[in-house]
Amino acid sequence: EPPKLVIPKAVAEPEEVDDGKKKVTIFFGTQTGTAEGFAKALAEEGNARYEKAKFKVIDLDDYAADDEEYEEKLKKETFTFFFLATYGDGEPTDNAARFYKWFTEGKERGDWLKNLQYGVFGLGNRQYEHFNKIAKVVDDLVAEQGGKRLVPVGLGDDDQCIEDDFAAWRELVWPELDQFLRDEDDATTATPYTAAVLEYRVVFHDKPDASVLENGSTHANGNTVYDAQHPCRANVAVKRELHTRASDRSCTHLEFDISGTGLSYETGDHVGVYCENLIEVVKEAEQLLNMPPDTYFSIHTDKEDGTPLSGSSLPPPFPPCTLRTALSQYADLLSAPKKSALIALGTYASDPSEADRLRYLASPAGKEEYAQWVVANQRSLLEVMAEFPSAKPPLGVFFAAVSPRLQPRFYSISSSPKIAPSRIHVTCALVYEKTPTGRIHKGVCSTWMKNAVPLEESPDCSWAPIFVRTSNFRLPADPKVPIVMIGPGTGLAPFRGFLQERLALKKSGAELGPAILFFGCRNSKMDYIYEDELNNFVQDGVISELIVAFSRQGPTKEYVQHKMTEKASYIWNMLSEGGYIYVCGDAKGMARDVHRTLHTIAQEQGSLDSSKAESMVKNLQMTGRYLRDVW
Ligand code: 2AM
Repeated sequence: EPPKLVIPKAVAEPEEVDDGKKKVTIFFGTQTGTAEGFAKALAEEGNARYEKAKFKVIDLDDYAADDEEYEEKLKKETFTFFFLATYGDGEPTDNAARFYKWFTEGKERGDWLKNLQYGVFGLGNRQYEHFNKIAKVVDDLVAEQGGKRLVPVGLGDDDQCIEDDFAAWRELVWPELDQFLRDEDDATTATPYTAAVLEYRVVFHDKPDASVLENGSTHANGNTVYDAQHPCRANVAVKRELHTRASDRSCTHLEFDISGTGLSYETGDHVGVYCENLIEVVKEAEQLLNMPPDTYFSIHTDKEDGTPLSGSSLPPPFPPCTLRTALSQYADLLSAPKKSALIALGTYASDPSEADRLRYLASPAGKEEYAQWVVANQRSLLEVMAEFPSAKPPLGVFFAAVSPRLQPRFYSISSSPKIAPSRIHVTCALVYEKTPTGRIHKGVCSTWMKNAVPLEESPDCSWAPIFVRTSNFRLPADPKVPIVMIGPGTGLAPFRGFLQERLALKKSGAELGPAILFFGCRNSKMDYIYEDELNNFVQDGVISELIVAFSRQGPTKEYVQHKMTEKASYIWNMLSEGGYIYVCGDAKGMARDVHRTLHTIAQEQGSLDSSKAESMVKNLQMTGRYLRDVW
């Protein structure tokens, strides 16, 4: 079996000696690597432009061990840029969470940042509420504490072309920095900087090296710690289809076996899952690259003499493996290619007309066409490569610049460790849709889960590297506190965990407060997932009221928020008694509509005017009594 997933974390650079250069520190808060890539690109261009400056990129988490160190080090900075992504319900990325909490919740600190000149670029998506919230908040707070803003906050929008947003913002940065960092020897701005196409050094091997599989990372105290860089190998113990035959869609219930691994979780946490591309997709990629699947190779970020390659924006490498393994486990083959990927492909297109067209699509002149031909048509990387058959990048370029790293997918865990201590349950709707070009897009992880072979069926079962991400989506500490849960579709997942937890509490003698669950699906005979279980929870007194909205059954569309309106006074009473309200599921439509409905309920039931109702809802949020797990 090929070695599985070990993603080395970049090694921290040693403290540098003072070389008289002006220091520019670039922070990033990244989840999928985009913010990190932009940060590195800015640093690379900065270092190329200014002889007398030194741009350094640093992960916000690695910058300081604690709050005091953040303060102490930030005070000394003179030029700083922040690349900050906003996720989920207006949250920072994991690696920025500690910094963000300290920076936003810390006490008044006056103008302690008065020596700082700074800029912030945000990564977000306009389709979501809280668009670029994290970047905006940090941008304002730095200014409030004395920092001098060099450029307006950049609002990168992933719904359009975030690479363009970054490029435009970057053009605002240089004239400002020129004033401080330019030296008469530096090249004039008339010669524009063009980033080199990124490339790893590749070494081909005759035969596989020893397996480099690691499971987690072992701390000095002997405990195993699992995270995105050190996932845990977990077998699929159980798999079940949750929709009935009458449904034309699919939703998989999967149970990962974590017994004996040391991996643990809490009710409400998320599980990150690394899955593999479908074999048909992998084979297509092999053909497009025109290389045999058993090609065994390793990628390196340094030259043969050990000095680092100039392209510091290289994504972290993966362990030595065959091309088949690399394409299955590490390559994102189905997302729309970035403009930088088109440029890399163009560089290796032997047919000049193909090279021209690829460069055009990535150029400012080709902006509209890129937006239409690539993005709106949801053309996958493989589809694009198929259109440019002469573009055959070498492996070092393909994995550095053409195909992004395949990312783990996150799911709200649908079990409670109180009932299922050795299992992590996942509830996953199948992504299967026709794109505008007629391609059937099969979601990587949901398809993998649907096809997984559980241990129940075969000792040679499917497994995946997984890890747990802590969340703040938690039941109230006191089980007597009333709770309102709203979770249509797979938004039901964490509530199944909540209900299991309440059942366990009840069995151990605890007294439970009222709990109302709003669930929504299309049709009671098709996609009413976990129906029997929910009815049992009602019977066992774990749910006091179960309310289901069927959107495609009766003459009118019924959604969870319509049912909430019918129960307005009940909800209001629960909240007035100190109750908690939870929402899980789709952020763009459902959670937004539910939020409005909650506002209306507060207004009508509490006889509040709109702004009072708003501050009441805000207050619920601030005090952690209105929690959302949305995507
Ligand atoms: P629909 O597909 O018929 O529009 C789970 O996906 C359920 O959520 C489905 O019944 C779906 O209905 C419904 N849904 C879709 N959009 C919604 C929204 N904005 N608010 C609440 N429910 C929604």
